[in-house]
Amino acid sequence: MNNKVKHDFLWGSASAAYQCEGGWNEGGKGLSNWDQFCHSEKNKKGFTGDVAADFYHRYKEDIRMAAEGGQNTLRFSISWTRILPDQSGKVNEEGVNFYKDVLLECKKYGITPNVTLLHYDIPAWLEDMGGYRNPIFADEFAKYCKVVFEQFGELIPLYVTINEITHNAICSYLTGHYPPNIHSTQALCEVGYNMIMAHAKAVVEFRKFNFKNSQVGIVHTTNTVQILKDTPEYRIAQRRCDLFKNKWITDPVILGKFPDDLLPLLKESGIDTSFVKQEDLDLLATTHIDFLGQNCYTRTLARPYREEDGETNYYPNNVGAGQKRLEGYVVKNWFTSDHDLNNPMNAWGREEYPKTVYDMLMGIKKDYGDIPVYITENGCAMYEKVEEDGKIHDQRRIDFMKGYLDWLVKAENEGCNVKGYYAWSTTDCYSWINGYEKRYGLVYIDYESEDLKRIPKDSYYWFKDYIKEHTEGE
Ligand code: BG6
Repeated sequence: MNNKVKHDFLWGSASAAYQCEGGWNEGGKGLSNWDQFCHSEKNKKGFTGDVAADFYHRYKEDIRMAAEGGQNTLRFSISWTRILPDQSGKVNEEGVNFYKDVLLECKKYGITPNVTLLHYDIPAWLEDMGGYRNPIFADEFAKYCKVVFEQFGELIPLYVTINEITHNAICSYLTGHYPPNIHSTQALCEVGYNMIMAHAKAVVEFRKFNFKNSQVGIVHTTNTVQILKDTPEYRIAQRRCDLFKNKWITDPVILGKFPDDLLPLLKESGIDTSFVKQEDLDLLATTHIDFLGQNCYTRTLARPYREEDGETNYYPNNVGAGQKRLEGYVVKNWFTSDHDLNNPMNAWGREEYPKTVYDMLMGIKKDYGDIPVYITENGCAMYEKVEEDGKIHDQRRIDFMKGYLDWLVKAENEGCNVKGYYAWSTTDCYSWINGYEKRYGLVYIDYESEDLKRIPKDSYYWFKDYIKEHTEGE
């Protein structure tokens, strides 16, 4: 073991359009579902992404700072409605030019762009037609992706179709705290299925271009599922939790088919699965991804479901310190989340468990062989403020990142095909529903200052050193 990753490893940080761009009604951009939601009375906390980190105007500064921080890659997303503002399909040149400028700026510093086509924000007009739940979503998404491939081609070497289908579908259609605020297990299943098909149809479009220097993948958030007791009941709960959290995404996008035990279990749970069409399954079987993006924050602990756990739901913590209930899932008759209270938790009730990145990478190797993997997000949520010396001393984030990164380096050294790591997030930004108090950035943003002043945190400098010390040939 040499404690270093290969010389061409990608080291960077990540963000998403709605969370960092701002400029919500500038440059010919159309309305997204998040613009619509945040401007409605359903937005109880009142925070919006109208300005966010103002990346739309300050991208040059942010890209320069990332480069100066030793990063050789950046992950960001394209806002669908900046490219196609309305239903007519007419391309918004100003939007295209904005992203071309961003890409050029990356090139200037030798930064490899890793670009997500959909990170939670879909057009408002499509949302009004039923959004992800309407099967036309898949075709509309593929049309938009085709435009992006035409416009940017090989300027983008790493294309991600969709960010975190599971988390997005669960929050939007099960818990219902994300737009369109629906709570229905039947809708959750339909939406998940349509998103998989949207991904598959986007991959079909991508392959038509025969790019030599661009690849396509998807970003999933794998929560490696573990159990605290090794009994047959716990192992059944573990498998069912793995189906619910991971395998219904990773199997179809990598192997081209849903797990054999998934549909029978859904039917047993009263789900009407008539939305599954043979022609879709045939198409899915022909698509494959070039790489898998894995967002990695924590693991999931599962235990057998009990009557008193109640109905299927996901309980997020969007309150932060002070919320009593820990983050977790109940899937009726499948599993319920378990918790190991001996481990540290962040203020939002999420377990910090660095070894999960190693377990996850080993699990992928076991289940899917040597598919290239990028850790597309990993980060530590904190309440933060500028200290008296004008700096941000985020030692907790440094300890968190070191824990996860040391396990990542070990997995790479032991033969896992992990090719990159992205800290979430490049700068502080909007956190869905939580607003701006929950910070993840390597760079602090003073939201009170007129020019949204950027201040690199201690973790920004620490990350730069870590990259140097842990890359072959550096
Ligand atoms: C991931 C998302 O689920 O987690 C990001 O891809 C998100 O968009 C990040 O911001 C952290 O989640 P949250 O809710 O704490 O901001």
